[in-house]
Amino acid sequence: MASVIIAGVGSYAPERILTNEELAKTVDTSDEWIRTRSGIGERRIAGENEACSDMAVHAARAALADAKMSASDIDLLIVATCTPDRPLPSTACIVQHKLGVPAHTTCFDISAACSGFLYAMEIAYGMLITNRYKRALIIGAEKLSTIVDWSDRTTCVLFGDAAGAAVLTKVAQPGIGIIGSDLGADGEFADKLMIHAGGSSCPASAQSVEARQHFIRMNGKEVFKSAVRVMETVCREMMEQHQLTPDQISLVIPHQANIRIIEALAGNLKLPMDKFFVNLDRYGNTSSATIPLALDEARRSGRVKPGDLTLLVAFGAGLTYGAALVRW
Ligand code: COA
Repeated sequence: MASVIIAGVGSYAPERILTNEELAKTVDTSDEWIRTRSGIGERRIAGENEACSDMAVHAARAALADAKMSASDIDLLIVATCTPDRPLPSTACIVQHKLGVPAHTTCFDISAACSGFLYAMEIAYGMLITNRYKRALIIGAEKLSTIVDWSDRTTCVLFGDAAGAAVLTKVAQPGIGIIGSDLGADGEFADKLMIHAGGSSCPASAQSVEARQHFIRMNGKEVFKSAVRVMETVCREMMEQHQLTPDQISLVIPHQANIRIIEALAGNLKLPMDKFFVNLDRYGNTSSATIPLALDEARRSGRVKPGDLTLLVAFGAGLTYGAALVRW
C-alpha cells in the first residue's frame, strides 16, 4: 500500500505585530489578563490591502520551495478558510491564478473553521490515494482581523492573521506520511461560536451592520469545555487505532487557541507539556492556519525528525474537530 507524505511545509505571518499592551489602550483589558487566561502575548495583523489569498500565496510559495516543487507541479489545490477574499469565487481559484498553478487544476475552498487544515489534509489524502491526482497543495489561511469585533474584549484578544501550507504527494513506500486521520463534527454546538449575518439565513443589510452581526460571537466557556473533550477523545481514538502509547508520540501539534486548553488536554492524556508545540504566545488563534504555521516552525526548529510520530489535533466552530498521525 502506497503512502501520502507531507513533502513540504511553509507559512507566512504579516509583519504588523499587535501587542496586548496596545490592545489594552482600545478595550478594557490588560496584558496580565490576556496572558493568564489565554497564554497569548501578541498577534499579527494583515495590511489593509493584504487579502487572505495574498497570505495564502506567501505560505504556498514557501511550502513549494520546501518540497522542491513549482506551482506547475500542483494538480489539486484546497484552501481551508473562514475568511475567504469574497463569498464568490473560492479563494482557491484566486490563489491558483496568483500563484501560477496551471489551468485545469482542481481548486476549491472548504469550510471547517479551525479544523479546516486537517479536513483539507484528509480530503487531499483521499484524492491522492485514488491515483487521479499527483500533488496537492493544501492551505490554511485567515484574515481573522476582518471578522473580529475590535470593541468586544471577550473575543478580540484571542485572534490573529496568518497562513500555512503543505504539499502532499503519494510515494510507493508504505507506512510513512499521513498514517491516520479521524475527523468529526457536532452541529449541536453550532451556535456557540458563529457569525450571525452575511449568509443566506441573515443576508447583509443596513440593520445587520448596525447590530454588528458580521463579527464573531462566542460562548467562551462552552467552547473551552467542548474543545478539551473532543480533542482528548479524538487523540485517544487515534492512539488506540494505531496501538500506540502516549510515549511513542514525539510531538503533538495542537490547534493554538488557548494555552489552558492545551494544558488541560496534556493533563488528561497524561502527556508532558514539553511534547506539545506552542506558539500561540506570538500569534494567537489564527484558525485554520495554526497547525501548518506551528508545523512549519516545529520542523524548522528541529523538533520533527525522520521516523518521528507527530500527532496533529484541532477543534473549531461547528463544532468541528479532528486528529491526524504523521510519520516523518
Ligand atoms: N480582559 C479583561 N477581562 C475580561 C476579558 C478581557 N479581554 N474578557 C473577559 N473578561 C472578563 C469577563 O467579563 C469576566 O468578568 P466577570 O467575572 O466580571 O463577569 C471575567 O473576565 C472572566 O471571564 P470568563 O469568560 O469566565 O473567562 P475565562 O477564564 O473563561 O476565559 C476565554 C475566557 C475566552 C479566554 C476562554 O473561555 C476560552 O479561551 N474559551 C475558548 C475560546 C476558543 O478557544 N475559541 C476559539 C475556538 S477555535
